[in-house]
This record gives sequence, C-alpha cells and structure tokens, in this order.
Amino acid sequence: MNESQPTPNAAITYGAYLKVDDLLSLQQPRSAGPEHDEMLFIVIHQVYELWFKELLHELDRVAALLTADDSVRAQHTLKRILTILKVLVAQLDILETMTPMEFLSFRSRLEAASGFQSDQFRQIEFTLGLKSTPAVERFPEGTRARLALQRRFTAPTVWDAFMHYLSREGYAVPHEHLARDVTIPIEPHAEVQAILTTVYRRDAKNAELCERLVDLDEGFQEWRYRHVKMVERTIGGKRGTGGSSGAEYLRSTVGRNLFPDLWEIRAGL
Ligand code: HEM
Repeated sequence: MNESQPTPNAAITYGAYLKVDDLLSLQQPRSAGPEHDEMLFIVIHQVYELWFKELLHELDRVAALLTADDSVRAQHTLKRILTILKVLVAQLDILETMTPMEFLSFRSRLEAASGFQSDQFRQIEFTLGLKSTPAVERFPEGTRARLALQRRFTAPTVWDAFMHYLSREGYAVPHEHLARDVTIPIEPHAEVQAILTTVYRRDAKNAELCERLVDLDEGFQEWRYRHVKMVERTIGGKRGTGGSSGAEYLRSTVGRNLFPDLWEIRAGL
C-alpha cells in the first residue's frame, strides 16, 4: 500500500466534528415537569461556559503576542475579546425575559449551585489580575478546576505581559514592577502612570493598545453591572443560592478597575 495515501476513513460530518449528539445530551433539567424556563437557564449558562473557554484561549493569545512584541496582532485579538464580551452582555437580555415567578418555579432545584462556583470565570479574573486563594481552595485537590486555577494563580497576568512589552519598547518600567509578585492585586503606581502619560502623549501605536485594555476593563465591568441588575429584578434582596448576600455582594464587585493606572492618568491628560 502506498504510505502517502490517506487511510480510507468515514467522511467527517458536521455532527461528528462538533459532537452534536453529545452536546445535545448535556441539557438535563432537574425540576418536575420539567419547568419550561429551566431549559433556557441551562442553555444560557452552558453557552457562557463555552464563551469563557474561548475568552481564556484568546487572553492567553494576547499575553503570548505581547511577549512576542507583536502589538498589531495583540490588538486584533483584543478586539475579538471585546466583541465576545459584548455578546456576553447581550445574552443577559434573553435571561431577563424570564420573570421572577418563572425563575422561582425551579430555583429550589439549584440547591447551592451558583455562577459563583464557575472556575472558568475565576480563571478569567486571575488572568486579568484579580487573584484569590479562597477561589482556588474552593475546588477539591486534583480536579480540573483546581489544577487550572493553581496554574493561573502563579502565572503572570495580561497586565504583567503589557508591562514587560512596554519595557522592551524602550520605556523605563521600574524593575520592581517587572519582577512583582504576580499573585497579588495590581496596585496603582505613580511611576507607571508617568510612563503611560508619555505613551498617550507621544506614542499613538501603544496609546491604541492602552485604549483596548481600557475597553476590556470597561467591558468586564459592564457584564458585572448588567448581571447585578438582572439579579435585582429576578430575586430582589434574597440571598444567593451560592450562600452570599446576593445583589448586595454583587454590587460590591462592580466598579473595581482591573488596570487602575490606565484610569488614574485620565485626569492629568
Ligand atoms: C436568573 C439568573 C441569575 C441569577 C438570579 C443569578 C444570581 C446570582 C447571585 C445571587 C450571585 C451571588 C453569589 C451567590 O450567592 O449565589 C451570582 C454570582 C455569579 N453569577 Fe449569577 N445569576 C444569574 C445568572 C447568571 C448567568 C447567566 C451567569 C453566566 C455564567 C452567571 C454568572 C455568575 C458569576 C460568574 C457569579 C460570581 C460573580 C462574582 O463573584 O463576582 N449568573 N449570581
């Protein structure tokens, strides 16, 4: 047999490539009936998890492209991320067609399950600099979620990749920022702000990159804001299924900037 000939194989089909049978078997309502709206609730959350997977894939790409000094493609990837974030925010409109009574028809069947336990959401936060030890320890040792969170906890953030990139672009980013402990929150720093101010005044290419990072920061906060408004209209002041105070807790997470230096400099530009 000629070794260069491809082995005869059943033609790949749409269903086989995308594992459609598997995918369609994953929506399993828990309510009796089941309640009509539980299907929407499950599908929306599963779609979010798929987009979270894609966002992580793209965020890793941004960091890799910055590390390779390819700012053009890093910006291109950031634009894709922002477009996905817009879809994530828009999807909340669909869930808001579910009334409080419709949600109550199956809410008790969620027991203690909550988006609060989404490890991929925490992975995104970690990649953007919001790291937390309890978020790692919430998952049992050796699980996919825990291993992924452990890896991202000690990995540099997108901001760190950006600081290193700026340093290689010739900006005097102080060593302490380049060698910072990447497991702690990103704090605002006057030296970094002075550098970013120069970028905005004299370096159009990198100022554009900064603007895309601000878009990312704002886009992520927009999701938080819309999620808490949806929670308020659906469950009001009730506690969350995940055990938090609910909307009150969520409100405390809105308005927290990911990249504080990029916001600080605006007043002085
Ligand atoms: C009727 C719809 C929803 C309600 C009532 C709701 C309610 C809540 C509440 C009360 C919390 C606070 C934690 C807790 O105690 O449970 C929370 C957190 C969260 N939810 Fe939702 N949620 C809804 C839909 C969604 C959807 C579609 C997603 C998409 C994945 C999502 C993702 C999250 C995430 C990631 C958190 C953690 C936020 C943080 O800690 O900053 N939620 N949700």
